[in-house]
Amino acid sequence: MSASLPLISDTPEKYEDPLDLMDEIDQLRKEKDATILAHFYVDGDIQDIADFTGDSLKLARDATQVTTSTIVFAGVHFMGESAKIMNPQKKVLVPDLHAGCSLAESCPPDQLAAFQEQLRSAGRQFQTVAYINTSAAVKSLCDWIVTSGNAREIIDRVPADKEILFVPDQHLGRYLSEVTGRKMILWPGSCMVHEVFSIQDLIRAKRQNPSAVIIAHPECPQNILEITDMIGGTEKMRQYVMSVEKPTTFLVATESAMIHPLQKAAPQHTFVPVPGIMASSGETCACNRCPHMALNTLQKVRDCLRDGRPEIEWKDYFAKAREVLDRSLLRG
Ligand code: 13P
Ligand code: SF4
Repeated sequence: MSASLPLISDTPEKYEDPLDLMDEIDQLRKEKDATILAHFYVDGDIQDIADFTGDSLKLARDATQVTTSTIVFAGVHFMGESAKIMNPQKKVLVPDLHAGCSLAESCPPDQLAAFQEQLRSAGRQFQTVAYINTSAAVKSLCDWIVTSGNAREIIDRVPADKEILFVPDQHLGRYLSEVTGRKMILWPGSCMVHEVFSIQDLIRAKRQNPSAVIIAHPECPQNILEITDMIGGTEKMRQYVMSVEKPTTFLVATESAMIHPLQKAAPQHTFVPVPGIMASSGETCACNRCPHMALNTLQKVRDCLRDGRPEIEWKDYFAKAREVLDRSLLRG
């Protein structure tokens, strides 16, 4: 499945002092009656001024607790959509509408609908479980939504006599199939960031520092997970490092902005981001930074608050997606 890169503007942002921008954002947030939500993968500065930070599960739940009339979602498009789905009456702004997700893109709704039809015509009895990293149009075609934080418990809710079609992340699906013992039909999508971690660099780093602990996101391929000490989504990683008192070196196989909340939560440790590797040349690269998440900047947070756009607009199929999200993330 192809992974497109976000559009890079021809006119780079002119430099503005981050502290001034933070003051401006603080002022505008009050004036515009807004709440700022930020995923752990956006720049640390944005996480620091946000009202809520977290993983996909926590932020989707936080979005339902917001009391202001406006939500600013610093993350990627599907996260803004989920916040709008949960809050149809609120204005949901995103700093950059081009901040997509390679996983969400790898599963277009028309292709999913056609594949589901094919399975049904072949007499297969199945339910479709989607990772939250999907468009709202895809969510509206599914039975369940999972995040890295609740996947196991949701999969347990799928009746045992049904097959599971898991979309769009083949690596997370494979891992979940292994830990739950459920056979799955896997959609061949993947995350452009988690797929490129360099196994050689990781093995070398571990050899140089045998007491280091490897923590990895389940979006990583099997070869990385096989040598990982703790597999978990971003919030589970944060909880885990906080539970270790002794100063430890952690080799972190997830998006590199995650180092910020880890360091904040457990400053006694050393966190080393695992580098990526370029498929074209085999060279080590800084591709462990998600180019979509990186489109979120303090300037754009300020601009969207000031201008009241870009906004996530309500679409008809959001109503169906809401039923699925509600049943999966809010009801136990
Ligand atoms: P979590 O924060 O739910 O672990 O998800 C990671 C991710 O890739 C979000 O895009
Ligand atoms: Fe999507 Fe991967 Fe970026 Fe997360 S890190 S938003 S899964 S492309």
